[in-house]
This record gives sequence, structure tokens and C-alpha cells, in this order.
Amino acid sequence: MSRSAVKMLYMRLSRASSLKGVIELPGDKSISHRAAMLAAIADGKTRISNFATSADCKATLGCLAALGVKIERDDATVTITGSGKYGLIKPSHELDCGNSGTTMRLLAGILAGQDFTATLVGDASLQIRPMRRIIEPLTKMGASVASNDGRAPLTITGSKPLRAIEYKLPVASAQIKSCVLLAGLYAGGETAVIETTPTRDHTERMLEWFGVKVRSENLKSGCKITVAGDAGLSACDFAVPCDISAAAFFIAAAVCLESSDLTLKNVGVSPTRRAFLDVLCEIGANIELSDEREISNEPTATIRVRGGLPQTSETLIIHGKTIANLIDEIPVLAVLGTKLDAGLEVRDAAELRVKESDRIAAVCENLRRMNAKVDEFEDGFRVYRSDLNGSQIDTYGDHRIAMAFAVAALLAAGETEIVDAECVAISFPRFFEALDSVVM
Ligand code: S3P
Repeated sequence: MSRSAVKMLYMRLSRASSLKGVIELPGDKSISHRAAMLAAIADGKTRISNFATSADCKATLGCLAALGVKIERDDATVTITGSGKYGLIKPSHELDCGNSGTTMRLLAGILAGQDFTATLVGDASLQIRPMRRIIEPLTKMGASVASNDGRAPLTITGSKPLRAIEYKLPVASAQIKSCVLLAGLYAGGETAVIETTPTRDHTERMLEWFGVKVRSENLKSGCKITVAGDAGLSACDFAVPCDISAAAFFIAAAVCLESSDLTLKNVGVSPTRRAFLDVLCEIGANIELSDEREISNEPTATIRVRGGLPQTSETLIIHGKTIANLIDEIPVLAVLGTKLDAGLEVRDAAELRVKESDRIAAVCENLRRMNAKVDEFEDGFRVYRSDLNGSQIDTYGDHRIAMAFAVAALLAAGETEIVDAECVAISFPRFFEALDSVVM
């Protein structure tokens, strides 16, 4: 099949001198998924504003509609009439999660507590991502999950009630944590998750916003997060902050392009999501936060970035617990690493190999195509200071690879061609328009 027959979009970009202005970012993808799911099982009508424009979140809405939830959408405002915890209905067809791991893993937690069987399917990328990590705890709780050797499709037969468990996360993953906590809402007794590495805490924050008591205790073994099975959820108004993971591409480009001055408003800056900002601030990047406040129990801020990448003689090394709090920002950090005199090393990030693509391989391959020197490790990579040359980029259908290499293109000599660029729609459909509006 020729490329045009499958409507592949080639995007051509070249070097920029700066990014200037104010950028409009979409609502946070992680938070939008959760808001839709909690609204679906709440009692009453929830109005969610600034709902993500991402294809992933559309997949979540599609699945919830197939479970009988009434959803109205008017641009970025989504109004959901909750079915209540026990009001979902057996879908008449498979639930299509598209490319979205969050949809599949979180929804699995809710489906585990229903008294019907439903099947979750996904696209080619989602079908090869690891699902044993949720199958194991859900099975312990009494649900039955049939899979293709630990991968999607997942056919979930719920149990009513589920068994309450205490579950220590084997992988630092907010998706697994959230899956178990959501299933915990359907268990007899208290369900607890113990995480040794803090991961994004949107589910916990949002459950409280919907009126569910969530207990967090710091133990020697990690943080123990507990929910009770008899908790009901009350509908509410929910405003989604803008997506810090979408902001990261613009922030990285602005930092690297000397005369930039870029403002990003109303960005979610939860301590469990902002490690990317913290790392850049630690190396002395000119990033200012203002108008810091909480919106719907989520910390937000306006971020102003001025160009200039400070240099040190030491390699910037990112590893250990920090990884979980900037996991989605690593592809663009790798690009930024090519502009650091002493380079960048990322370790303890093997999880990147099981994201929408093998992001370690995709980053290394594409950086090399652009003339960068890179060492690849099983759990990360080392990037050396390099002058980038324009090249053809293979996104592997991964939105974050496409956007990270759009940033690389702005820093490179000559023209860069991003193949399959339409995959940005997974998280940020108007990414290239937004970039165009601030590139000088
Ligand atoms: C997400 C958690 C992260 C992240 C993903 C979204 C979420 O995945 O990479 O893009 O919304 O909970 P893991 O929890 O698997 O690390």
C-alpha cells in the first residue's frame, strides 16, 4: 500500500530562532481519562471543562458510552450523567481502547467490579503492551480476566463484591495503582496499594474531589493508599488543568532556543508530574512559575520560559525515583540532551520500552539519524552533545516521538521530515498548529 493510500502525513520542519508568545495547551490527558471514568460511576451530572482533545480520551468516552453512560460533548466541555457505581450496562460490542493504555488499564479496574462480562481491545501497539500487571491484582480480587498470554484483548468477568486486597506495586505505575484503587471501590472492605516510588496521584486527588475518602500513610515500605469498598461518588464540576506533558515539548524548545520568551497558562504542576520542570530549574534554566493555585484539587501554574540552556561540566544524570515523575517527558529530554555540553544520561527507565513504542529504541534510532552520538542501554541511554542535522524521522506511530523530534527539527540544520506525523492526535491534535503559532 502506498503511503498516500493510508493517509500518512509527512510534516516538514526546519530550524527556528526562538519561540515567542502565549501557547494554548489541551487539557491534561491523564486527568481527563480519570474525570470521565469517575463521572461515569458517580451519582448525578458532572460537568468537565477543558477536557482533553486527545484521541485517547475520546476512546475512553466511547467505551463509557458503550457501557450505557450518557455523555454530551460541546467542544472542550463534557457533561456526563453518572450511571452510579452499579448502573453500568453490559456492552453490546467490544470496548475499543484504541492506542490508550490508560483507558484499558483503568477501565479494567471498574469492569472487575461489574456483574457482566466485557472485552477490552486496542490497536496494534496496545495489543502488545503488558497487561499481566493488572491481570494479577484483579484476579487476586476475584475477577476473571482472559487475555492473549498477558496481552489484550482482555475479557473481564467481574465479581460482586470483589475481595479487598493490600497490593504492593511491582512496577512504579500510576495505571496499575489506579486500576487497583478503582477496583477497590467495588470490594468488600478496604483495599490498599503500596507504592515504593511515588507515581502521578491524579486518581487519589480526584477521588477526594468526588467525595471518596482516600487515606495515604507513609510506611517504611512505601506509601500506602487506601480506599473503602462502600464509598459512593458524588457528581461535581471539574476543571481539567492543561497538560504538562504537552507543555514539555514547548518548554524544551524554548529553553534550547536562546531568545525565546514563551508563556504557558494554567498548566498542571502536581509534584508527581513536574519533575521535568524541576530538573530544568536545577540546571539553571530560566523558568518562572506564577499564579500558582489549585483547580479541582490539582495544583496549577502559569509557566514562563526564557531561552538559554545553562552548561555544566557534569553530565546530567536522571535515574531512580525521578524517572516515574517525568516518564512521558524523556523523549524530549533526550533531544534537549544533545544541547548540553556534557550530555545527558537516563537510567532506570526500562518502562520506556513498553510504552506506545519502544521509546528507548525510537529515541536512539532517530537521534542517530540526525547525526547525534548516542549509547543505548537496556534501561536508558546516554546522549552526547551533538550538532543535529535534518533527517527523516520514523515516529513508530508514537505521538511523543513525533513531538519530541519536531522539537529536534527546530534545533537542526536543514529540513527534517516526520513521517506518520498525524499520530500527534493521540494526545495533542493541534500540536503543529500550536507550534506554528509561536515559532519565530
Ligand atoms: C499514565 C501513567 C503513565 C504514563 C501514561 C499515563 C496515567 O504510565 O506513561 O502516559 O495516566 O496513569 P504508567 O503508569 O504505566 O507508568
